[in-house]
This record gives sequence, C-alpha cells and structure tokens, in this order.
Amino acid sequence: MSLFDDLEGVYAEAARALEATADAAGLEAWYAAYLSRKGAVTLQTRVVGQLPKEERPAFGQRVNEIKAALESAYAARAGQIKQAELTRALESGAVDVTLPGRPVTEGHLHLTTQSLRQIYAIFARMGFEVYEAPDVELEAYNFDLLNIPAYHPARDMWDTFWVQTPPHEARLLLRTHTSPGQIRAMRERSANQEPLRVILPGKCYRYEQITARSEHQFYQVEGLAVGRGITLTDLIGTLHQFANLFYGAGRKIRVRGSYFPFTEPSIEVDTNCILCGGKGCGVCKYTGWLEIAGAGMVHPVVLENGGYDPAEWSGFAFGMGVERPSMMKYDVSDIRLYYGNDLRFLRQF
Ligand code: FA5
Repeated sequence: MSLFDDLEGVYAEAARALEATADAAGLEAWYAAYLSRKGAVTLQTRVVGQLPKEERPAFGQRVNEIKAALESAYAARAGQIKQAELTRALESGAVDVTLPGRPVTEGHLHLTTQSLRQIYAIFARMGFEVYEAPDVELEAYNFDLLNIPAYHPARDMWDTFWVQTPPHEARLLLRTHTSPGQIRAMRERSANQEPLRVILPGKCYRYEQITARSEHQFYQVEGLAVGRGITLTDLIGTLHQFANLFYGAGRKIRVRGSYFPFTEPSIEVDTNCILCGGKGCGVCKYTGWLEIAGAGMVHPVVLENGGYDPAEWSGFAFGMGVERPSMMKYDVSDIRLYYGNDLRFLRQF
C-alpha cells in the first residue's frame, strides 16, 4: 500500500467517524482525534518527507484538500447537532399553557415610608425643602450647640448611645433627635444670610426601654423656619395645617407650655383625637387629644450658633415623631409592629 492509499484511508475513516458523532462532546473528541495539532489528518503532513521528491507536491496538496473538506464537514455536522439538541430541549421542556400560573406576590412601601412621604408632601406644599443630616453626630451638634452644655440636667431627657472614640477626640453619638440638623442647615444658609424653611427627616436612637409607645430606633421629622419677623402664630398655623392635611379636615389644635433648651418659648401641640372625635378612647387615653409635636421659637443662643443675629432674625422649630402620628392615623396599637417584620401586619397598609 502506498502512502497515498494510507492518506485516503485516514480520510475515509475520519469522514465515517464524523457521521457517527451524536452530540457536542463526541464532536469535540472527533476534532481532537483528526484535525487538532496532533490529530491523524494533521500528522499526515509529516509523511511528506518519506516520499520521493517529485511526489511531494501532489501529496501535500491532497492533504490540504482533505483538511479543508473535513473542516467544512465538521462545521456542517456541528450545525446539525446543535439543531438536534435544541429540538430535544424544546420537546422535553414543553410548557403546558393550560396549567394555572404561580401567583406573583407584590411588595409595597413600608408603612413608615408611606407616612414619611405623606409628611414630605404636606410640608412641600407649605414651601419646606427636605434637608438631610447625619445619623452619627458630634456631641456638640446634638447637645452643646443646642444650648445643652455638658452636665446640664436637660441631657437626661435623651438617653444616649455613645460611639466609641479615642480619648481627646470629639465625642460621637447616634443622634437622639433630629434637632442637630437645625445647626447644620442654619450654618449652610447663614453664610449668605438667607432665610430658610426646611424639614429634616431621619432616624433617631435612644437608649431606652422598648414599650408599646417607644422604640429605641424611630423616625422624627424636624421643621425649621428662619426669617425676619417669624412669630409663634406662624408655628401654630403651620402645625394646624399639618394636622388638617395629615389626619383630615376639621382638626383642632391645642397648645400647651413645655420646656426644650433650644426653644423659647417652648410648646407641645396636640390635635383632637380622630378616632373618637374628642369623646375619649383607648388611642387618646381618654383625653380626646393626641400629641403631634414638641416645638417653639428658636432660642437666641441657637440662632447665634447657627450664624444668625437674633436681633435681626427669628425662627420657629418643631420636632415630631413619625411612627406615633402614623399609629394614630392608622389605628395601630403597638409601635413594635412597625419593625417586627410580620407580613400579616405590613400587608394591611
Ligand atoms: C425632641 O426630640 C425635640 N428635639 C423636639 C423639638 C424639636 C422640640 C424642635 C422643639 C423644637 P421629644 O423627645 O419629645 O422631643 O421627641 C419628639 C417626638 O419624637 C415625640 O413626640 C414622639 O412622637 C417621638 N418620640 C420620642 N421618643 C420616641 C420613642 N422612643 N419611640 C418613638 N417615638 C418617639
């Protein structure tokens, strides 16, 4: 047998083996056996040296023809196998369109987020911008600059989570209320001596007992307006409007004297109970009134710390919870339900 016959033999064998491949793995093995660098067909190029000189060109040309023919046969076979595999996959995974579908559970905004957005919308209508301040705050902003120096008994009003800081560095804490944002907002605006009207929403943290009315993390929305000639009447009017828009028309407002170191005078503002219409019920603890905010006229010391001259400027501030007003609106009896992650509760809103 001549070397030419051997070559034709390899070709015939390769063509037969290609016909017999049935899947992608077989195809890969076939390519390795015949056309790869060490494949049987490729190795035929080395045989050339054993032939007499005059036969070499014809042999080389035939090897190249065979290689080209096998490459295109390989590509065609690969196409067939891919199609067959696709058909098989489609047949085995056929969808029965008559089966009932799996229900998609739809999520929605958390009740706190809904309540926050309602509050934003109400104050936006009255021209308040939203301003954000940090959760981890300097002691100075949370207390000192708000007219609550160290050892002042008023610090006991807020049980504090302290953040560990190296000795001699400024002390950090988790803000106990949103009021420190007042100083930050004022310092930004007072640079140009502009009036300001902002709300500052955010989480507050207090080292306190968790009960049906109190969490150790909860939201507040702070309000602050600074301008020339702002009075207590503006504050009361603003909160009255808030109560009407948040709880519904026809709300009455009641103002009680109170004490906060950063406002003078300080007040607490109640609205008549929506649930019993003032007659007295469990939600309002049979008083007929619900507290909506602590508030007051910004203390001159705080105005000055914010960069405004109290002889020229005045302002009001208020701080309201979010969960508590929301509890009143949606008749929720326990604040712990907000963050208990019980979907049976959350899905109701
Ligand atoms: C303050 O935090 C003052 N910074 C409010 C203020 C701002 C007064 C500006 C004057 C001017 P107080 O501690 O009362 O005040 O909290 C305000 C509101 O936050 C409360 O009315 C209540 O709605 C909410 N709140 C307070 N503690 C908790 C708590 N543990 N869980 C849930 N809500 C709370």
